[in-house]
Amino acid sequence: MKKLLLILLCLPMIGFAQNPNYSEDIAPIIYGRCLQCHHSGGISNLNLESYANTVTNAGMIQHVTSTGEMPPWPPDTLFQNYAYENVLSMNEISTVMDWITNGVPLGDTSLLPPMPTFGNLLQLGVPDLELQMPTYASTATSNSDDYVCFSIPTGLLQNRRIKAIEVIPGNLQTVHHVLVSIDPFPNTSIVTTANCMGPQGDMIYTYAPGALPLTYPETTNNSFGVELPANSSVSFAMHYPEGSLGQLDSTKVRFYFYPQSTVIRGISNEFLINEGLFGAPFYLPPNQITEITGSFGPTTQDYSFMSVFPHMHLLGKDMECIAVTPTNDTINLIRINNWDFEWQGDYYFEKFLKIPAGSIIYAKGNYDNTVSATNPNPVNVQSGLNTEDEMFIFIFQFLPYQLGDENISIENGSISTNIHEGTAISSLRKLLKITTILGQSTKPKSNTPLFYIYDDGTVEKIIIIK
Ligand code: HEC
Repeated sequence: MKKLLLILLCLPMIGFAQNPNYSEDIAPIIYGRCLQCHHSGGISNLNLESYANTVTNAGMIQHVTSTGEMPPWPPDTLFQNYAYENVLSMNEISTVMDWITNGVPLGDTSLLPPMPTFGNLLQLGVPDLELQMPTYASTATSNSDDYVCFSIPTGLLQNRRIKAIEVIPGNLQTVHHVLVSIDPFPNTSIVTTANCMGPQGDMIYTYAPGALPLTYPETTNNSFGVELPANSSVSFAMHYPEGSLGQLDSTKVRFYFYPQSTVIRGISNEFLINEGLFGAPFYLPPNQITEITGSFGPTTQDYSFMSVFPHMHLLGKDMECIAVTPTNDTINLIRINNWDFEWQGDYYFEKFLKIPAGSIIYAKGNYDNTVSATNPNPVNVQSGLNTEDEMFIFIFQFLPYQLGDENISIENGSISTNIHEGTAISSLRKLLKITTILGQSTKPKSNTPLFYIYDDGTVEKIIIIK
C-alpha cells in the first residue's frame, strides 16, 4: 500500500514541468502552436504575442486548451495521425493549467524563445511561378460567408512538374481557406466565379491559416510531385468568413518546379468518394439527422495514399472513412467527430499509407438538419454544389505503390536539393536578405557560397548543391 502511494506521489513529476513559467514553458507552446493565427494582423482578433495579453486571457486559454477547441484540429487523433498535426499533448495542456494555477509566473525573460514572424516570407526562396488573383473586396455579410473562385492562366509554354507550393494570403485576417486546383477549363484571361465552393478540377493544395508551404517528399530514388500542364489555368477557391464585407484581398500562389530533366512520380488527386454528384442525389429531410454512406473499390492495384481531404457543407456533423483490405484488415483514414465547415484541410499521413489491391474504401457521415441557431427553419436539402446544398466528398492524393513507400515520411521526406533546408526553423524568423561573400545582395544561386541573413540576427552560410 505504501509502495503504491509513493508511486502515485511520484507520477506527476515524470515529464511534467514543475512550477512552469511563461518564458521557459508557456511561450514555446503559444509561439509554436497558437501565434500563426493569434498574432497581430492574424486571422483571430485575439493577440497572444505578449505575456500581458496571455495573462489577461489566461482563463479563456485554459478553457479552450483543456476542451481541445484550440488549436483547431478537426481530425480525431485517436483514429489516425497526420504530418503537420497541430495539437497539444496532455503534457502541454497540464503545463498551461499548472502555470495558471501557480499564478502565471513570468520567469527569466532572457530564456524566451525567438518571436516567430509571419507574413510575406520567401520561405522557400524565389518562386519559379507566382500567380496572383486580382484585388477583390469580400461580399460576406454579418451572417453569410463569401465563396468565390478565380481561375488564373499560368502562361506556361511547356509542362512543368511542381516540387513545392506556397499560398501567400493577401489579407491574413480574411482569408479563411484557399483550395488550389488545376482548372479543367483553362482560359487565357482571369475568370471569376461567384458562389463557388470549389475545388474546380484536380486539387493540388489546401491553405488554411497557419498552413506551411508544401514540399513534396523527395528521397534518393523518388521525386514526388504534380504536373502543371502548358497553357493551364490554376483555380483559387477562396473563402472569406462572415463579417469581412468590403475587406480587400489579393492572394498569391507560388510554385517551385523541379528541373526539366527530373522524372517525377506523379501524384493523383481524385474524388474517390463523391456521393450525390457521381450517382443518384441524396436527400436530407428536415428535422432529422440523416446518415449518408459511400464506398469505392475494390482497388485494382496497390496504392500509396498521401493525403485525405474530407468535405461537407453546413449541415455536416461527423464523418469517418476507412479502407478494408482483402484480408479484412482495417486501415483508418480519417474520422472527424465534430465537423466544422470553417476548419477544412487536406490531411497528410505521416508516411505514405499502403492500400493493397482489392481494398474497399468505406465512408459514412451524419447531417444534422434539425432546428438550431444557424438553421432555424429546416427545409429539405439535397446534394449539390451550392452553399445551401450538401456534399459528401473524400478527395485523396495517391499514386501507384512501390516497395518502400510506407517508410517515406511526408513531413520530413522532403530532402530537397535546391531548397534551403530547415524551413520549419526559417518560418520562425524572417529572411532579410541573401548576400554573396562580398556582401552584395543576390537571389539564391546554386553551387555558390551565400549568406542568409535573418531578422533575429542569425546568419547562415549556405551552399546549394545542384
Ligand atoms: C489555425 C488558427 C488558430 C490556431 C492555431 C489557434 N487559434 Fe485560437 N482562435 C482562432 C480563431 C479563428 C478564433 C475565433 C475567434 C476570433 O476570431 O477571434 C480563435 C479563438 C480563440 C480564443 C477565444 C475563444 C472565445 O471563446 O472567444 C482563445 C482563448 C484561443 N483561440 C486560444 C488559442 C490558443 C491558446 C491556441 C494555441 C494553443 C490557439 N488559440 C490556436 C484560430 C486559431
